[in-house]
Amino acid sequence: MPYPEIRPRRLRRNAAVRRLVSETRVDPAELVVPMFVKEGLAEPRAIASLPGVLQHSRDSLRKAAVEAVQAGVGGIMLFGVPASRDEYGSGGIDPNGILNVAIRDVVAEVGDATVVMSDLCLDEFTSHGHCGVLTPDGAVDNDATLAAYAEMAVAQAAAGADVVGPSGMMDGQVGVVRRALDAAGHCDVAVLAYAVKYASAFYGPFRDAVESALEGDRRTYQQDPANLRESLREVALDVAEGADMVMVKPALPYLDVVSAVRAAVDVPVAAYQVSGEYAMVEAAAANGWVDRERLMLETLTSIRRAGAQIILTYWAVEAAQLLRQRY
Ligand code: PBG
Repeated sequence: MPYPEIRPRRLRRNAAVRRLVSETRVDPAELVVPMFVKEGLAEPRAIASLPGVLQHSRDSLRKAAVEAVQAGVGGIMLFGVPASRDEYGSGGIDPNGILNVAIRDVVAEVGDATVVMSDLCLDEFTSHGHCGVLTPDGAVDNDATLAAYAEMAVAQAAAGADVVGPSGMMDGQVGVVRRALDAAGHCDVAVLAYAVKYASAFYGPFRDAVESALEGDRRTYQQDPANLRESLREVALDVAEGADMVMVKPALPYLDVVSAVRAAVDVPVAAYQVSGEYAMVEAAAANGWVDRERLMLETLTSIRRAGAQIILTYWAVEAAQLLRQRY
């Protein structure tokens, strides 16, 4: 060894020194837990492809929200599963639709103790499962969909959402939602734009969770996994249209995108560790092939290191509990 001896291992020799020099920490306050609530359920129901995640009843959702707040998570992202659907997805706009009712329930239960967010998209509410309304020949009609998103945003804000998350990848959705919120007096409601959303096979288990009716795919509106520059364009458009925060989705297979987006904008960047990312780890862990807790924290640390300041993850509550023991 040449003198002076450079030995990076000195800073790895025990847990105390590793903790001292750690460059990245995942803080529970930056984790957001997605939750599903299904209309008409008396008891919560398991989702086979998302072990540990539930379709909540209204009652169990309120309890889960309290538990999430106690664990210290930064936010809750709500998804509704309606009992019936139609071509226009009108259940998303109806103030008594399951998602809007659930927003009111959660806000009443936890108030300002965490940030209540709602998915702003039609796919859970349409009979065909697309994120927008269709033209007579079956294409997703961008501008007709925008009008529905505007109404949906106002309904969610009226129900008490702190943040709405337009996730349908329609052109112009952020601007339309922002203007509609402002016009209705909801200037304080923030927009978390799903700015970069790939047409991904990693959403498989989510489609079970919301009992999606989709046949076919979403490739005319979600992005091609091959493209990075296109993401930067999407992000620039959303920020120009008034996005308060931008999100990249999925997370782990797209860390290069997270990092490029972080470098490109100054607004908070979120990443969504989606259902398939979670399910893969859970399935491997159930087989005893990987260490579940270590992998959970390793994936979250990696997403954080890549530049996501906010992480949506189905592990949020458990990870928050583990992290609080650790630091
Ligand atoms: C659309 C939406 C989807 C997800 C979040 N919002 C599904 C899709 O685009 O097909 C997927 C989340 C996940 O897989 O965990 N409302």
